[in-house]
Formats: sequence, C-alpha cells, structure tokens
Amino acid sequence: MSNIFPSQHPLVAHKLTRLRDKNTQPKKFRELTREIAALLTYEATADLEITPRNVETPLTKTSGFELKENIGLVPILRAGLGMVEGVWGLMPSAEVWHIGLYRDEETLQPVEYYNKLPVAPTVSVCLVLDPMLATGGSAVATVDVVKRWGVDRIKFIAMIASPEGIAAMQEAHPDVPIHLAKIDEKLNEIGYILPGLGDAGDRQFGTA
Ligand code: PRP
Ligand code: URA
Repeated sequence: MSNIFPSQHPLVAHKLTRLRDKNTQPKKFRELTREIAALLTYEATADLEITPRNVETPLTKTSGFELKENIGLVPILRAGLGMVEGVWGLMPSAEVWHIGLYRDEETLQPVEYYNKLPVAPTVSVCLVLDPMLATGGSAVATVDVVKRWGVDRIKFIAMIASPEGIAAMQEAHPDVPIHLAKIDEKLNEIGYILPGLGDAGDRQFGTA
C-alpha cells in the first residue's frame, strides 16, 4: 500500500464527516467537495517539479520558483466535476480535460460516453478526479485513457475508496498514487461504498 495516501489532516476528517451526513444538502455538499479536493491536492502535489525564476519585489530583486510542468485535471463526469473548482483554485493555469463515464447499474462496468482528448498530449502530469473509488472500474478505465493519450505521470484523487477499488487500481495501475480522504470498509451488494456517502453525483447535483 506504499502508493496509497489517506489524508491524516484534521480538516479533511472534519469536512469528510459533514460530507457523509445524509442531512447535508447539495449546496453544502458541493462546498465541502471543493474544499476537500483542494486539501487533498495540496498533499498530492508536494512532489511537483519547480524551476528557478527571478522576481522583483517592490523593494529589490530576488530569486524564487515557478511550476515547471504543465498540469492537466481530468474530472470523471459527473461527480468529478465538483472537485475541479477546488483544485483550480490552487492551480488556475491547469488544463481541464473531461472524461465521461457512467457505471452500468447491472454489470457495474464503466461505459465511456465522452472523450475529446486531442491526439497528442498537452500536459505532462494529470490529476484524475473522482470522489468515489468503488469497484475501481471507472478509475481503471480513465487511467487507461490517460495513459493511451501519452501521459505517464498520473495521480488519482478521491474522497472515499473501498478496499476493492484500491485493489483493482493497484492491480491495473500500480504506478499511480492514490490520494484520498478515507479508505472505507467494503462495498455493499449493489456496489456502493459502506459507510460511504451515497451517490456522489446525485448528492452534488440534487438528482437523487
Ligand atoms: C460514480 C462515481 C465514480 C463511479 C465509481 O459515478 O463518481 O465515477 O461511480 O464506481 P466504480 O469505482 O465502481 O466504477 P456514476 O457511475 O454513478 O456516474 P455519475 O457520476 O454520472 O452519477
Ligand atoms: N458511486 C457513488 O457515487 N457512490 C458509491 O458508493 C459507489 C459508486
């Protein structure tokens, strides 16, 4: 599990508990999703490369740094969308490339319905965003797409994962670190994470 990073941050624990609460309404749910995404991204990006850059303050010249790499955010539609604003707040020049997948309710297999990636990659690092890593099917399929695009530095950022989803990602993509708020107990018989938070897309968009 050396590539799995559950956050130890008290703010994340506090906000995740409010996110789980069945009484949390969509407006607050979206706000918490943005905030947790930003906190997890802060932790996930600690190894980004920087390059020296000089800067002039109002008083003098000094040396500093700027990010070296082009970063792409890859939200998995729909629920990953709610994480974008939080991450973008930290990295406003990141490109956003959407991937549309939904889980077939019977088979739990991911079905791809949107992908407009250009032929050649335009970024060198991708942060794949999805609040829920359940069976892992959607995450594995999206990382497959990003790797086929030609990006090999990928990080997966989620709110909650099941042990089954983590195992699926480690089997298919052991090179991809997973940053998350919490690893939960298990999946239920219809593929939902327990204790989880329910359906992350429905709770954000008010479509339950
Ligand atoms: C949810 C979630 C993930 C997926 C996780 O999306 O946002 O993308 O399920 O499940 P998995 O790990 O078993 O693949 P969903 O398919 O409900 O689509 P939606 O966001 O459009 O509602
Ligand atoms: N997708 C969700 O939104 N929630 C789960 O618990 C599993 C898949």
